[in-house]
Amino acid sequence: MKALLQLMFACILHSSLSLENGLGRTPQMGWNSWNHFHCSVSARLIMETADAMVSKGLKAAGYQYVNIDDCWQVARFPNNTIKPDHKKFPDMKQLADYVHSKSLKFGLYSDAGTHTCQKRPGSLGYEDIDAETYAGWGVDYLKYDNCNDNGTKPEIRYPVMRDALNKTDKPIFYSVCEWGIDDPATWAPKVGNSWRTTEDIEDNWDSMYSRAVLNDQWWKYAGPGGWNDPDMLEVGNGGMSHNAYIVHFSLWCLMKAPLLIGCDVRSISKDALDILTNSEVIAVNQDPLGVQGHRVKMTTDGAEVWAGPLSGNSVAVILLNSGTKTQNVTAYFSEIGLSADTASVRDLWAHEDQESATNSISRSVHSHSAVMLVLKPF
Ligand code: GAL
Repeated sequence: MKALLQLMFACILHSSLSLENGLGRTPQMGWNSWNHFHCSVSARLIMETADAMVSKGLKAAGYQYVNIDDCWQVARFPNNTIKPDHKKFPDMKQLADYVHSKSLKFGLYSDAGTHTCQKRPGSLGYEDIDAETYAGWGVDYLKYDNCNDNGTKPEIRYPVMRDALNKTDKPIFYSVCEWGIDDPATWAPKVGNSWRTTEDIEDNWDSMYSRAVLNDQWWKYAGPGGWNDPDMLEVGNGGMSHNAYIVHFSLWCLMKAPLLIGCDVRSISKDALDILTNSEVIAVNQDPLGVQGHRVKMTTDGAEVWAGPLSGNSVAVILLNSGTKTQNVTAYFSEIGLSADTASVRDLWAHEDQESATNSISRSVHSHSAVMLVLKPF
């Protein structure tokens, strides 16, 4: 009897201290409304986006979540359940069903405070009732923001929603969004499937590049089930050059970052689509080993080498030029964790096998551009 009680106690303790929802074994892939649409969201937009995810080949490329960010909610009903903006979202359950009918998954957004960042009702104090409502609608994903808190730390407020989600009978991906303020990499692996490590990204080089560098410091904390999140993708929103968007996508894939498209996929350009559906680069992100690649060196001129191991003994490498002039970028095998002298070379953007390399690999790289390779020892 005593042993049974001890076991029960251990189970209760364990379940309230960890996430273990089986989700996020590889970084999540999908779309989110915020970067492009901000508060201009509606059921119609979500349905058209789901259609476009299928017709443009994004679903086939692995993107599965269709996530509504802030501004879908307006108030609480007298019984405290959350009330969507009925003009824009007449029936959430029906909308989730529509997204599911396309074999996609459906996500929502809320906040661990009294109000969201756009002053809509938050979930603080209503975690259980909100989690039940989401599960009843068929929600598969929750992004949980950090505005208008009650003065307590995120470490206190975020586990409450984790436990509420776990109490429902539906597995719900839990995306922690406290902008990296309390070093979430050190505590959020037990709380969420991903955690933001930075403030919001903007659609320009400096913002994108600085988010990658900030995210990089936490690389050892990521792994299957829990990922560092340097914020959503800007590819396709028009503020960066084609080469800079290639850098953006290459880094996010190597860093095992969530791949959440942030543009209007209904009218996406061919260039943006080619980047977002590059199956060889996506394969690095989704590699089952799940080790986050990181920056292994950088010269004062901005010649940078980023690398990380893949399953099957291969190594993914980005030769990046963050400087202002075209220059050679060289990676030595000893720096990138390759023990063999000679390796085969696959260029993931040129989609070609290139001449094998011995001891090092070097490429001439334009300013704000990158070459991404997979090296495999012979
Ligand atoms: C921010 C969050 C953004 C977006 C926005 C909505 O706090 O980082 O990604 O969700 O709120 O208001």
